Amino acid sequence: MDLAELLMLDHLAIRSKGHWNIPGKNTEIFIDFATFIDDCHVQVEEKVFFPIITEFEWEDKESFRKTVDRIKADHKLIKTLGDNLKKWLSSGNSNFELRLPLYYKTVEEHNSSEEKSIFNRWPLLSEEVRKNAMKESLDIIDGFGIDKYISETESSKEFILYIKNVK
Ligand SMILES: [Fe+2]
Ligand SMILES: [Fe+2]
Repeated sequence: MDLAELLMLDHLAIRSKGHWNIPGKNTEIFIDFATFIDDCHVQVEEKVFFPIITEFEWEDKESFRKTVDRIKADHKLIKTLGDNLKKWLSSGNSNFELRLPLYYKTVEEHNSSEEKSIFNRWPLLSEEVRKNAMKESLDIIDGFGIDKYISETESSKEFILYIKNVK
């Protein structure tokens, strides 16, 4: 498994959470979930995946960098929207119910752009670069907390152990 695949598994978990985390139901899971997106998934992208992929000498390096920067800018919007939703949820403000679908829509559209315009280039990088990137990312996930990661992505300890040991 490489890092693009792992990030797409996160996207899959995010998509499925979005489908059942509907207004009026299961809303208490929102806080931990938005924290996972900001403090884990986005950190792996911004600290490891994006820097590596934009440094590669692509023929269209400059325009590709602009594409990545444009997509990366969504992270700030997602964080602001998520922070507002957390506040509204805690204070019982009805904006929470109104805006929750927009949060998931924004995140899902953002994730689709990443898969379409950025992640597809990852297999073109060397195996060594991709392996080191995976190691660095697993350190970020460790720092976030394996148990929280497993719970938010609905994976398992065995899955984490497997990707840590895969050669
Ligand atoms: Fe992202
Ligand atoms: Fe993503």
